[in-house]
Amino acid sequence: MSLVATSLAVLRSGQQPGGAFVACPTYPTYRYAWLRDGAFCAYAMDRWGEREPAAAFHRFVARTLLRRRQRVAEAIEAAGRGDVARMLPARFTLDGEEEAPGAEEWPNFQLDGYGTWLWVLADHVGRGGELTDELREAAGLVADYLRAAGELACYDCWEEYGDRCHTSTRAAVWAGLDAAARLTGSPPPGPPVLPTVDGSFVKYEGTDLVDGSLLWLALPFRLVAPDDPRMKATAERIAAELVGPGGGVRRYLGDTFYGGGEWVLLTAWLGWYRVAVGDLAGAAAARAWIEQAATAEGLLPEQLIGAPQDPAMVEPWTRRWGTVATPLLWSHAMYLVLVDAMERGA
Ligand code: BGC
Repeated sequence: MSLVATSLAVLRSGQQPGGAFVACPTYPTYRYAWLRDGAFCAYAMDRWGEREPAAAFHRFVARTLLRRRQRVAEAIEAAGRGDVARMLPARFTLDGEEEAPGAEEWPNFQLDGYGTWLWVLADHVGRGGELTDELREAAGLVADYLRAAGELACYDCWEEYGDRCHTSTRAAVWAGLDAAARLTGSPPPGPPVLPTVDGSFVKYEGTDLVDGSLLWLALPFRLVAPDDPRMKATAERIAAELVGPGGGVRRYLGDTFYGGGEWVLLTAWLGWYRVAVGDLAGAAAARAWIEQAATAEGLLPEQLIGAPQDPAMVEPWTRRWGTVATPLLWSHAMYLVLVDAMERGA
């Protein structure tokens, strides 16, 4: 079976009857539905013509949010006061419940998944998916939430550094509000602050680090053109500083999660970006690296830890949580996006 076929099968079997995508079926703390992971799974399905699984995910998100209108209204109100303890979660249980407060200590205040969901929903509608009343109402609710909370410091897409405003999160919030403007007629957002150092985007204001997630600014969000000089400089820094000896992309310098290895989904992102700027050989190299990262059964892990940045951190994570999450649905989703981009355009 090709890795494309396996990837589609992994996404299909990881989707719950209610439409949620599990982040990873086998890793203890990943048996939840993250908005971020799920939205990219739905996007990959749509790119491969699988309209119904994508639609089912959007219905899941809408239902989950509309069931707690009061909770969302409270979060919007609390955001106005800067009270981040009442914000909406980054992830739900597989049947759309919120975890009981304190059930697991999780840095749950992350805005990027909400913005990404709106962007993916608008893309789904653009591909012919139906914008039902339920979806439109949920989109409006999420846009209200992002307008209220969007400027607050929150955890990033790696669930870290909750006291910063992260550049890739800002891009996702902007993209979500821009998508909501198209879906619901709400006012479009103003341009976000995108900090740069020496002409390249940085992870957050006050650092000169780059982060693999900065590729989002170009793809899918198109907040910045792929060939914008700042985007090109950022991609060059990612390639120079974050590509490991094997050819996979690390999240950022100093990452210690499982030693800070090479991530499948980010390698796919760099390949996707390369397609967008016409570097097809570079895209093919990224694809080949991902294909060799798959297990004999064709399953893609979250990261490869054979060449860690911080070897001493591999063992503590492995002892505590077991082997790296495999299959990670988001890894399979981004592989599907990369292959589709190579075959049919970025
Ligand atoms: C990653 C997140 C991801 C989550 C579930 C975390 O370890 O940092 O980006 O959403 O796992 O896959």
